[in-house]
Amino acid sequence: MSIPVWMDVDTGIDDAIALMVLHALPELDVKALSAVCGNSPLSCSYRNTRSMNTVLGTRYPVYAGAEKPLLREARHAPAVHGENGLGDVEVALPADEVLYEEPMWDALYAEAVRQKGQLRLIATGPLTNVAIALTKYSDLKDYLHTILIMGGATQGGNTTPSAEFNMYADPEAAAIVFKAGVPIVMCPLDVTERILLTPDEWKATAANGAKTGQFLCDILKKPWSFHKPYGRAGVQMHDSVPVIYLAHPELFDTEEAGVVVETKGTVTLGKTVTDLYSDKQFDFKNATVVLDADIDAVKRIILNSIGQAS
Ligand code: RIB
Ligand code: CA
Repeated sequence: MSIPVWMDVDTGIDDAIALMVLHALPELDVKALSAVCGNSPLSCSYRNTRSMNTVLGTRYPVYAGAEKPLLREARHAPAVHGENGLGDVEVALPADEVLYEEPMWDALYAEAVRQKGQLRLIATGPLTNVAIALTKYSDLKDYLHTILIMGGATQGGNTTPSAEFNMYADPEAAAIVFKAGVPIVMCPLDVTERILLTPDEWKATAANGAKTGQFLCDILKKPWSFHKPYGRAGVQMHDSVPVIYLAHPELFDTEEAGVVVETKGTVTLGKTVTDLYSDKQFDFKNATVVLDADIDAVKRIILNSIGQAS
C-alpha cells in the first residue's frame, strides 16, 4: 500500500534533489507539492517547483503558499542556492502546465480530509505554510498522519551557532507546528549534514546517461562553489532525508524527544531546544528525532533515484 504524501518545499537545490527522490520511490504516492518563501523568494521557489515537472516528466499539482514569514522579514540563501534558487539554472515550465490558483493551505486541508487521516506532510523549507494551514483549519491536526520536517539541530546551527536555516527563517511558524499535536519526525542537521554527495558521485550520474544526471551536475555547481572553499567533501542532501525516512525508516536511528523552538532569544533565536541530552526533561515528547542513518544506503537511494528519474 503506497503512502499518500504532500511535500512543501522552498526549491532550493537540495529540495529539487529531494523531489527527484520522492518521485522515484515506489512506496510514496505524491498527491501535491507546495512552495514557500525560503531559500529564495516565493516567486522563485514556486516557479522552481513547477519546473521540476519538466525535469521529471510529471504533472504534479503545485500550489503557492506564503510570500514571507509570519512576523519577520524574509531571508534567503543566494550564496548557496543562487539568486533564482536553482543554482541560477533556467528550466522551462511545462508547455501544457495547469496552474492551481488555490493557496496551499486550502488545498492541503482538502487533501488531508480526502485522505481520511493518512496523508503524510513532508516540509523541507521554513514552516510558514504549515503553520498557516494548522492555524486556519483547527481540525487539520486530526487529518494529518505525520509531519516530517527537515530542520533544526540538537547541537550547532548552520545559519547561526544556535539555529538551522528553516527554523531560523520563521521561528514563530516552527513553534506553532511543534506545538500543534500532530506526530512529528524531525530530521535535524545532526543527520542531514552527513548525507552529502561528492563531485565524483554526482558527475557519475551524468556519465551513465541519466537525463537528470546533467541537470544534477548543473544545479550543484553553485552550492559546490560555496562549500568547496570550506574544505567540505561535497554538498549536503538535507531535504532527501525526510523523504527517504518515510519510505525506509529501517535505515535510520531515532529518539523520542520534547522539542521547543526558541522565538524570543537573540543569540538563540530559532534554536530547536530538545531534552535529548539533559537531565531535566520536558513533560511531553512531541517529536521523533532522527539522529543517525545508514549513510551509504541513503546515498545509494539518492543516486539510484536520480539515475531512474525519467
Ligand atoms: O538548513 C538546510 C535547509 O535550509 C534545507 O532545507 C535547505 O534547502 C534550506 O531550505
Ligand atoms: Ca529546503
